[in-house]
This record gives sequence, structure tokens and C-alpha cells, in this order.
Amino acid sequence: MLDDKIEIRSIEYDSDDYKQSRNLRHEVLRKPWGHSITEDNLDHEKNDLLLGAFSDNKLIGFGTLVWHTGDIAQVRYMAIDASWRKSGIGSKILSALEEAARVANKSKMILNSREKAIPFYEKHGYKVTGELIVPPFIPIPHAMMEKELN
Ligand SMILES: CC(C)(COP(=O)(O)OP(=O)(O)OC[C@H]1O[C@@H](n2cnc3c(N)ncnc32)[C@H](O)[C@@H]1OP(=O)(O)O)[C@@H](O)C(=O)NCCC(=O)NCCS
Repeated sequence: MLDDKIEIRSIEYDSDDYKQSRNLRHEVLRKPWGHSITEDNLDHEKNDLLLGAFSDNKLIGFGTLVWHTGDIAQVRYMAIDASWRKSGIGSKILSALEEAARVANKSKMILNSREKAIPFYEKHGYKVTGELIVPPFIPIPHAMMEKELN
């Protein structure tokens, strides 16, 4: 059961909370594969929606939404602190990103999922739309997924 004290809120680009998001993303998404978040060009995040889950102002979960032209928005950088996984935080962030997309009149969500995370997105109604491909940046298979918003 998710603690009521977990707060989901937006994060301002280049703020102290944003620095926490870079650290969390580094730990969860880059370091295990010998990479660093500093290799990612994150300049576009000035324009993206950045959402964090906080416990006592400590960032424990994160995800972003990239606004594509037309009716599409893309989920990126979903990362939950290892000690908080499978307690509903990823679901809360994903649902909040979807709601923001709806409010912005987007009708389709897309994302590129790591193979291990595919069941998580399937539970939220996403469908795999492409083959598993190992991208150049991280040596694990990823597949494109999408969901129509209603
Ligand atoms: C994938 C991730 C974002 C999911 O967040 P989370 O907070 O752990 O997920 P939730 O607790 O909201 O899980 C929701 C449901 O999905 C399931 N689920 C979550 N991760 C899963 C996984 N890796 N495999 C299978 N099922 C999973 C949960 O068991 C839960 O199912 P239930 O509703 O039947 O109980 C998180 O585990 C994570 O950060 N993983 C490492 C980084 C990563 O892979 N990021 C995604 C990059 S595309």
C-alpha cells in the first residue's frame, strides 16, 4: 500500500529537485551499464513535463513527458528508487503523465520500453508495436509501445 505522504509534483528544469532527478536517473538507468547521465543531452527538458514522487522531499521516483507535434506525447526516463519499486509509485507517475497529456489534448502515448519493464506498461494498457531492438546507448533490448488515450 502506497504511503499517503508520497507527493507527486512537477519539477522545474535546473532546480535542486531537477539535480535529484539526474542523480536518480544516473543510479537507476545508466550506472548499472557503465554509463553516466552526463552523456545524455537533456537540453530539451526545458520544454518537457518533469514529474517526481517525493517522500519527505527526497526524490524516489521520476518520469517525463515529451510533447511531440500533433496528437502524440512520449513517456521517457521512468525511474523508481530500487527500495520503492512495486509499491505503486511508477503507476502514480505514469497516470499523472497520461492525465497531463489528456489535458493538453493529446490522444496517443508512445514510449520505448526496456524488455523487463514491458509487463508494467502492459498493465497500464500499452501495447508493443515494434520488435525488440538493442539501442546504441544501453546494451539491453527495448521495444516501442503505445496507448490510445480516452
Ligand atoms: C518499471 C518501473 C518504472 C515500474 O515502477 P514501479 O513503481 O515499480 O511499478 P508499480 O509498483 O506501480 O507496478 C504496477 C504493476 O506493475 C507490476 N510491475 C512493475 N514492475 C514490473 C516488472 N519489472 N515486471 C513485471 N511486473 C511489474 C507491479 O507488480 C504492479 O502489478 P499489480 O498492479 O498487479 O500489483 C520501475 O520498476 C523501475 O524504475 N524499474 C527500473 C528502471 C526501468 O526499467 N525503467 C523503465 C524504463 S523503460
